Amino acid sequence: MLDDNEIQDNQLIIGGIPATDLAAEYGTALQVYDVSKIRSQIRAFQRVFKENDIEYAVSYASKAFACLAMYQVLAQEDAHADVVSGGELYTAIQAGFPMDHVSFHGNNKSRAELEMAISHHVGVIMLDNFYEIQLLSEVLADLDETTNVMLRVSPAVSAHTHEFIQTGQQDSKFGFDIITGQADEALQQVLNEPNMNLIGVHSHIGSQIFETDGFKIETEKLVNLMQHWHDEFGFTPQIINVGGGFGIKYTDDDHPIRPEDFVQQILTTLRAETESRGLATPAVWIEPGRSIAGPAGTTLYTVGSSKTIPEIRKYVAVDGGMGDNIRPALYGAEYDAVVANDVHDDNTELITLAGKYCESGDILIKDIELPVVQPGDIIAVLATGAYGYSMASNYNRNERPAVVFVENGKSQIAIERETYADLIHLDRNLTI
Ligand code: LLP
Repeated sequence: MLDDNEIQDNQLIIGGIPATDLAAEYGTALQVYDVSKIRSQIRAFQRVFKENDIEYAVSYASKAFACLAMYQVLAQEDAHADVVSGGELYTAIQAGFPMDHVSFHGNNKSRAELEMAISHHVGVIMLDNFYEIQLLSEVLADLDETTNVMLRVSPAVSAHTHEFIQTGQQDSKFGFDIITGQADEALQQVLNEPNMNLIGVHSHIGSQIFETDGFKIETEKLVNLMQHWHDEFGFTPQIINVGGGFGIKYTDDDHPIRPEDFVQQILTTLRAETESRGLATPAVWIEPGRSIAGPAGTTLYTVGSSKTIPEIRKYVAVDGGMGDNIRPALYGAEYDAVVANDVHDDNTELITLAGKYCESGDILIKDIELPVVQPGDIIAVLATGAYGYSMASNYNRNERPAVVFVENGKSQIAIERETYADLIHLDRNLTI
């Protein structure tokens, strides 16, 4: 899982700094991002589009991980951002992120969220359902504003991934269904809305996808729809947005192609499909979240107690768990880990890495062969940058970890560690 330059003197190095130094300086549990990995993945995506001479936006799916510093890195890299809540939008605004590079998603945006987005002139509202067309129409009239919109359609592509993280199949809460004609109905409604400028069509088929077939079928379906809309309604989308979902390597059992290679496949399909029909090749937007944030993140934990059940299992417990990474408990997600202060050691044993939360399911990694650890050792769980911190909770009233950005031997706090005072910040004493 690790590159050679990430191990020096048997120590894990992140962004040029020994992981144990980061643990000592900032404490554990600690979420660390190697910012150069974030940048290089964004650039790899951008390069594919340039090589194919296709207009594009690399729109990072903020839900994978968002904070002020993250939006600021994205802005430096000229990436767009997709937000799915007023909270993500607020964070982007506070970060000084360019609002014209924001896409606002969601299947139940509130009036207040739409008002906020419109008054800050976000780049595009991703329309998800009929109620929203009406609500946005009212908001635009009330505020005397116009906006770009895209229609999110559900393309009925079942990607090979966990059921809970599939979104593109027909039976989905997201988007206008193509098969039953809802997408056509939505198109006609939006074309009649004087304050909405329809710039494109969006779909997203799922997350942590390894097969390219799903993306190819999705692209074909979007081109079919483009042609149909062109022929039937005289409307040609300038942009097709194919969403995100490019799978990443979590353990040595995963063998995904590079995230940018998924995009190459999409562009090749798109070019062939549009040229054979005599349609102009539209701009392509992508919304990768996991592939940008995931590999860049590492979680550092300190080893505490352990429990050996002879002939059955040895549990090693760390000072974090399902509160900072719910994915193993929620999806059965698997991760790899190393002992940060002793990466390669022949003296290994099979352990189960447990968290500190009061729940039997709070297991970070079931069965991993690791060097024998002692209390105080630092264990690094790898590729935790996506949907770890962003899905973190205060379960058991534990504080959420700090987040540190590291690059070229420098480190900084991106999100402070929560304090006990933070935990009762919103509580009020009993008065009745
Ligand atoms: N665009 C849309 C419209 C999405 O719904 C998503 C993810 C993305 C882009 C980004 O997908 P990505 O490139 O990150 O796969 N919590 C789950 C993942 C949920 C993904 C939801 N939508 C997990 O931890 O695996």
